[in-house]
Amino acid sequence: MELSEGLRTRHSVRAFLDRPVEAETLRRIIGAACRAPSAGNMQPWELYAVRGQTMERLRSVVRATFESGGSAPQSPGLAKPAPEVYSERRRGLYREADPYLQRAGRSGEFIPEGSYRFFGAPAAVLVYVHEDLLPLRLVCCGAFMTQLTLAAHAEGLGTCAIGFVRTADRQMREVLSVPEEFSFVVALAVGYPDPQSPVNEFRSSRVPVDEVCRFFD
Ligand SMILES: Cc1cc2nc3c(=O)[nH]c(=O)nc-3n(C[C@H](O)[C@H](O)[C@H](O)COP(=O)(O)O)c2cc1C
Repeated sequence: MELSEGLRTRHSVRAFLDRPVEAETLRRIIGAACRAPSAGNMQPWELYAVRGQTMERLRSVVRATFESGGSAPQSPGLAKPAPEVYSERRRGLYREADPYLQRAGRSGEFIPEGSYRFFGAPAAVLVYVHEDLLPLRLVCCGAFMTQLTLAAHAEGLGTCAIGFVRTADRQMREVLSVPEEFSFVVALAVGYPDPQSPVNEFRSSRVPVDEVCRFFD
């Protein structure tokens, strides 16, 4: 796949086939994503790649936390409510997704609820960063995350970044024995996209480039 095509066609996948991701495949896409740039080449991403029984255990503890109404610890950048311009874009996502969710017999609740089951994905990659590197090195973890989504896409795999599972931060670290000094950044659900699901037909829009970029000559 051409890089430009990959950039144009990648999208979040929220319905997966019941088909495992081979350990070698997962290792290969993580290796490709680790080619991401990072400040001082520190490669600060601390990764947990999960499949099989551990994936089911993870899903079960996250789901149980969601069902018991567990509350999320404060996220980096979410200490205050987002300014209206960004909140409105977020509402736009739910508005745009709604017709596709309805066709799949779902409502807007599908996004949080599905997130807590990793949308049924057979694998996930959890990204952590050492707390002493916060907040600046989050940007390097973001670069890793982006490359992972593209490397997976190039292999016919789908991904969805999942921040909602932060609610189950403590429970996830217990399953994976994550050291206290690592701070959760994001999880990525990984699997083969279900081509039959209307949920996967949804493509989110973007605001015009001139709305987010000030060009100077
Ligand atoms: C840091 C981060 C966290 C996200 N968390 C979630 C999540 O918890 N659940 C979800 O369904 N999508 C999540 N997403 C996916 C975004 O909703 C998605 O990337 C955005 O709407 C743009 O759509 P696209 O990825 O299909 O282009 C997250 C994305 C990022 C970058």
